[in-house]
Amino acid sequence: MERIAVIGTGYVGLVTGCCYAEIGHEVICVDIDPDKVRRLSLGEIPIYEPGLGELAASNQAAGRLSFTTDLARAVQDSSIIFIAVGTPTLENGEVDMQQVRGAVETLARQMNDYKIIVMKSTVPVGTSRRIRQWMEEGQQRPVPFSVVSNPEFLREGTAIHDTFHPDRVVIGSDDADAALRVERLQAAFGGEVVRTDPESAELIKYASNAFLAAKISFINEMANVCEKVGADVSLVARGMGLDNRIGPKFLQAGIGYGGSCFPKDTRAQLKIAQNADYDFRILRAVIEVNTLQRERFVEKVTAALGGNATGRSITVWGLAFKPNTDDLRDAPALDIIRALQERGAVVTAYDPAAASKASALLPGVRCLTDPYEAAENAEAVVIATDWEDLRRIDFDRLRSLVRKPLIIDGRNMFAPAEMAEKGFTYVSVGRPA
Ligand code: UGA
Repeated sequence: MERIAVIGTGYVGLVTGCCYAEIGHEVICVDIDPDKVRRLSLGEIPIYEPGLGELAASNQAAGRLSFTTDLARAVQDSSIIFIAVGTPTLENGEVDMQQVRGAVETLARQMNDYKIIVMKSTVPVGTSRRIRQWMEEGQQRPVPFSVVSNPEFLREGTAIHDTFHPDRVVIGSDDADAALRVERLQAAFGGEVVRTDPESAELIKYASNAFLAAKISFINEMANVCEKVGADVSLVARGMGLDNRIGPKFLQAGIGYGGSCFPKDTRAQLKIAQNADYDFRILRAVIEVNTLQRERFVEKVTAALGGNATGRSITVWGLAFKPNTDDLRDAPALDIIRALQERGAVVTAYDPAAASKASALLPGVRCLTDPYEAAENAEAVVIATDWEDLRRIDFDRLRSLVRKPLIIDGRNMFAPAEMAEKGFTYVSVGRPA
C-alpha cells in the first residue's frame, strides 16, 4: 500500500486518484480551486464519466480517498506524487507549462523526505529533465527525489475500463528503483510494461495520439476519394482492417476527430518537431485534412438542401465530440453549427449529455435533450455525434415530425439501403446513397 498524492483533479487526475484508491492505496487529490474541492468532498463529480461517481463515493466512504487544497500537507503525507495538471496549448502552438511548473515549484518547497514524482499529464519531450531542474532550484534544502514519466492513455467515456485494462504501461525514468516502484503500483491493472528513458516515454504519448489521428484523417481522405469514384468507404475500411498489421480500429470515416486531446496533441507534436528543426509533413497534413473534413461536411449539408441554407431549419443530433461524454472541447459539431448559422440556417440541437453546457457556447441555437423534440419541423437532420440512443430512433415517428425526410449523417451510423426503405433521403460520408 502506498500513500499517493495526485495534483490536479481534472480528467486524468480524478480518474487516476479514484482507481488507485480502488485497489487499496491511500490517495489525496489536490486542487487549487477550493470550490471544486468542496464539491468533490461532497461527492459531486464535475465531469461526466460513467462509473466515476460511484468509484469516488465508495472510496471516500472507505477512507482511502480524500480531496484537499492543502498541497503542502498532501505532499508531506505521501511518498508518490502524481502530477496531472492541465497542459493547454498556447497561441503559438507550444504547450503551456505554467501549471506544471507552478505545481513542481510548490512541491519543491514542501519536500520533507524522499518522494517519487510521476508525470501523468501530456507534456513535451524534455519535461522530466526540466522538472528535475525546477525541483533542484526550488528546494530550500536538498531532499532526494526521483522523476518518472508515466503517460496516460485513457479515453473519455471509458476511462475507468481503460485504467483497469491498459494495453500497455509506459514508464520512463533514469532511476531504475523508482521506475520499479511505479511499475509495482500499476501491476494490479495488468498490461505490458514498456520501460524507457524519460524522453522516449514522453514521445510515446504524442506519437500514439498523432498516429491515431493520422488513421482518422487517412480514412477520411479515402472516404472523399470513395465519393468521387463511387466506392463505399466502410467496405474499404473493413477490407483494410482485417489485415492485422493495419487493424480495424480508428478507421471510421466521418467529420473528423475532436476533443481535448487529438487536436491539441497533434499541434503540440508539430511544434515540438519544428522546435527541433524538423518539419513533420505527415502530421501537418493530418491536421489540415481534419479541418477540411468539417468544412466539406458543411458543404455536403448545404448541397443536400439544394445549395442554399438561408432560413432553413436544421436539426443537429449530437454536440459532444464523441458519445458518452459531455465534453465539447473542439467538438466538430460546434464548428459545423456555427458554419451553418453563418450560411443563414436556423439550428436546433440535441445532445443527451452536453445540451445545457452547449447553450452558452451556441447563441441562437436551442439545445434540447430529446431528439424528437429537436427534430420537429426540421428540413434536415444532421448527425454529428454517434450517440448510442440514436441507433434506437423510431424513424416512422421521426418522419411524421420533420418537414422533409432528409438525414445527413456525419458518422455513418445507418445502412443507406435501410434508410431509403424507411423513406428518408440519406446522405453519409464516403458511401453511395
Ligand atoms: C484519445 C486517445 O484515444 C486516448 O488513448 C488518449 O489517452 C486521450 O486521447 C488523451 O490523450 O488523453 P479521447 O480524446 O477520449 O482519447 O477520444 P477518442 O475515443 O480517441 O476519440 C477522439 C476523436 O476521434 C473523437 O472525436 C472521435 O469521434 C474521433 N474518431 C475516432 C473518428 O472520427 N473515427 C474513428 O475511427 C475513431
